[in-house]
Amino acid sequence: MKIALLGYGTVGRSLDELLKRRDIGIEVKRILRRKKDPTDPRVTDRFEDILEDREIECAAEAMSGKEPADSFLKRLMESGRHVVSANKAAIASDLRGLKELSEKMNTDFLFEASCGGTIPWIENIKEMAMADEILSVRGILNGTCNFIIDKMEREGLDFNEALKKAQDLGYAEADPTADIGGYDTYNKCVISCSLAYRGYVPTDIPVLGMQDIGKGFLSELYKEGKTVRYMMLSERRGERVALGVVPTVISKDSIEANVRDNYNCASMVGATAGELKFYGQGSGGFPTADAMVRDLLRVRDRKAEPNVLDRRLISDDSLLTGTGYFPDGRIKGTLAELCGKAREKNMFMAFEEDGIKDA
Ligand code: HSE
Repeated sequence: MKIALLGYGTVGRSLDELLKRRDIGIEVKRILRRKKDPTDPRVTDRFEDILEDREIECAAEAMSGKEPADSFLKRLMESGRHVVSANKAAIASDLRGLKELSEKMNTDFLFEASCGGTIPWIENIKEMAMADEILSVRGILNGTCNFIIDKMEREGLDFNEALKKAQDLGYAEADPTADIGGYDTYNKCVISCSLAYRGYVPTDIPVLGMQDIGKGFLSELYKEGKTVRYMMLSERRGERVALGVVPTVISKDSIEANVRDNYNCASMVGATAGELKFYGQGSGGFPTADAMVRDLLRVRDRKAEPNVLDRRLISDDSLLTGTGYFPDGRIKGTLAELCGKAREKNMFMAFEEDGIKDA
C-alpha cells in the first residue's frame, strides 16, 4: 500500500523511520512538509501533489492544529482516500463532520494515535462501547503534564525546568500551553468520550490548567496520603453526561499516582466488565508513530472497526461532584461549579472526586 505522510515533525519523522525499518508492505510515496528537502524526492510543499497521485490510497496525518489539517483530511476523504490521523485538535474540533464524511465516502478514518500515544485506547473503547455500556472514562492522557508532575514530585524539579525537559524529549506540543493549559487533554477527552458514550458529547466542559501546581501543594497533599495528577474525568448515566479536565487529587496508593514520566493511564468502566485500565507511553515520536502503524495495518487489511455515534447526549454537571482544593480552603460542589469559582477568583484549584456513585 502506498501512502502519503502529512507533516514531518517528531511524529511524522518517526513514522517514516518505522515504516522503513519494518517490512510490512506500506510505502511512504509522498511527504507533505512546509520545508522543502531537495535530497528527498518524496517531499513536496503542495498538497495537490498528493491529491493528484492516484497511487496513494491512504494518508497518515501528523500535523498539529486544526487548520489546514481539517481541510486536508476532508479533501482526502472526498477523493476516496483512507485517513489515519494523530491530530487530536483537528479531530476534536469536528469529529462529527469528519466521521460523517468518511462514512459517506466509505473510507477508513482511524485515529488511535490521537489519544494516549501508543496505548491501544481508541480501538478498545470502540469495541467496549459496542459490547457493553460504558459508564465512566477517565485518566491521565497528557504525557507532558504527567512528566512535569512526576519530576516535581520525585526529583524536586521546578515546573519550568520539568517543562523544558519534556520539550527537549519531544513530548510537548509545538505550543506547550496546549499541554499545561489543558486544551490537549480536552481534545482527547472529547474524542474518547464521544466514542465511549456513542454520541457527540457537549463540548462546553470545565477545563482548568495545571500550570499552578506547586511543590508546596504537593507536599501538603503528601501529608494526607494524597497526590495530584492531571486528568480528564467523565461519567455517563443514560443520556446524561458530565466531563471535565482538571488537576485531580488522588490517593498516593492509587495506580494513577504511580504513573511515571510521559506515561498515560486511562480507564473505562463497563456496566458488565467493570473497570479496565490502559497504561503506556502517552507521547513521544516513536510511541505515537507506532499507534499510527497499527491503524495503517487496519487500513491495509480492511479491518477498521465500525462504531456508531447515534445517541443524543446532554450535560448533567451533578454526575461529577467532589471537593475543590483552593489556596484559601476547601469547598464542596460539582466540578463545573468549582471550576467556575476558580476562574472567577483567578485561583488554582485541584478537584477530589466523591467516592463511587450508583450506576
Ligand atoms: N503533547 C502531547 C502529550 C503529545 O504530552 O501528551 C501526545 O498527544
